[in-house]
Amino acid sequence: MTAQATYYLTTAIDYVNGPPHMGHAYEKIAADAIARYHRLRGDDVFFLTGTDEHGVKIERSAEAQGLDPQTFTDQTVDCFKATWAKLGISYDRFIRTTDADHKKAVQAIFKHLLDKGDIYKAKYEGFYCKGCEEFKNERDLVEKCCSVHQVPAEWMSEENYVFKLSDYRDRIRLHIEQNPDFIQPDYRAKEVLNLLETFPDVSVSRQSVKWGIPVPGDESQVIYVWIDALSNYLTGIGYPDGDAFKKYWPASVHLIGKDIVKFHAIIWPAMLMALELPLPKQVFGHGWVLTDGQKMGKSTGNATSPDALADEYGADAIRYYLLREIAFGRDGEMTREAFENRVNADLANNLGNALNRTLTILEKNFDGRISPRHEAIEGDLPRKVESVLARVEDRMAVLALDEALMAIWELLDATNKYIDSTAPWALAKAGDKENLGGVLYAVLEALRIASVLASPFIPTLAGKIWEQLGIQTPLADQRWSDLVWGRLEEGTQSQKLGPIYPRIGAELAGAKKKA
Ligand code: ME8
Ligand code: MG
Repeated sequence: MTAQATYYLTTAIDYVNGPPHMGHAYEKIAADAIARYHRLRGDDVFFLTGTDEHGVKIERSAEAQGLDPQTFTDQTVDCFKATWAKLGISYDRFIRTTDADHKKAVQAIFKHLLDKGDIYKAKYEGFYCKGCEEFKNERDLVEKCCSVHQVPAEWMSEENYVFKLSDYRDRIRLHIEQNPDFIQPDYRAKEVLNLLETFPDVSVSRQSVKWGIPVPGDESQVIYVWIDALSNYLTGIGYPDGDAFKKYWPASVHLIGKDIVKFHAIIWPAMLMALELPLPKQVFGHGWVLTDGQKMGKSTGNATSPDALADEYGADAIRYYLLREIAFGRDGEMTREAFENRVNADLANNLGNALNRTLTILEKNFDGRISPRHEAIEGDLPRKVESVLARVEDRMAVLALDEALMAIWELLDATNKYIDSTAPWALAKAGDKENLGGVLYAVLEALRIASVLASPFIPTLAGKIWEQLGIQTPLADQRWSDLVWGRLEEGTQSQKLGPIYPRIGAELAGAKKKA
């Protein structure tokens, strides 16, 4: 027996200055699909997500609501957790940077760097964007405003603890150059290398901020929120001596948005080098969800609530739309119209109809029991399944989630075409039970395999297909090795329970007709 591969996947931890928005949801959904896919592959997965709760941005948001920061963050974190539950995010730990174990480990990390001489004290000043929680170069500001958050940057001048990042620049450059998979998509690496050239030492403490983890040995300062936040990838699995840390580090992928790649590809590697720890295998910077060409976000105030949308359309429709419509890595628009069109075409029609019309004929002609296989009438479908399996594997290896979904939906297209060309309704009319049974078996077998393949992306709808097929072993227990053509058992009692995803707008159209 070969040892089970470990797969440690993390997301960014979100700022809790407001409830989760679509951009946050997008990242957690993508990570969840990846985690579920690796579980399907049989890997030993640890999926970490959570919230970033310290710093001046949160401190001021709490103040604006007249709450102390802990009460404020507790409330917002409840929103995040409820939304992730609604969207089916299957994390193994939800880390809060206010968790006691995290705070203790961050102080130990800081002290370690201080003792080693990687951190020194110096006067540090510059323009600070509290949206980014970062000092800005004057050339990054447009009329003194941060170009991302469009709020004025504030002048700050303090005596700070400073991390000697410059000592690590050469090693980081070498690592990036020698490991082309380290920064993905690869087009993001060039920008990082450019920034690295002149990347300054980093101020890692704040005098003027109260809400944060105290600098060990100097209560007058708190640890800079990015040092605190990045450390979550270690503390979340029990650094320094927890068993999970020993088992899972280094991370397989840090999944984050493109706006924070530099923190993960420059500051974080430098910290890890200073701590003498191996670097994560990959930092993947996904694109932004846009509305009217603008990044959706709290600070910019154009956020759509994923929570409300999930209530209206179900989690799987949102999961499917975001992962299928946006080329993973690139930016993509989210509009109601595109959303409804995509979901109707692919979920209601393509996926739902194949199952529904086949189960109807099966019910009439075989009392709903899975009919006997008849190889002579299966045509190209078994080969199509094989090529789709290979394609999904290939695309998921590079996190091309949209392309993996395209491949799965090609299988559904082929299945619908197969139904049309074999015309089972005609076979039923002619009383050709052997061929009819063979066609229905082939369609349902293709749907069994498609539903397992789609389950990381649309777990609820895949579960509904599974239930209607009547297969007794739970969907969650399926493994890649079960995806062999012909495994569907004849005689299994299916249950026709109606469309798995009703068309959006169908009621509306019906109501209009009646009126
Ligand atoms: O940056 N589309 O938190 P955050 C896609 N706390 N992704 C988006 C997005 C959008 N419109 N808006 C935000 C932080 N994101 C830090 C992270 S990690 C150690 C600390 C993504 O709440 C963003 O790119 O501003 C990031 O990956 C995540 O949501 C959290 O953003
Ligand atoms: Mg942000």
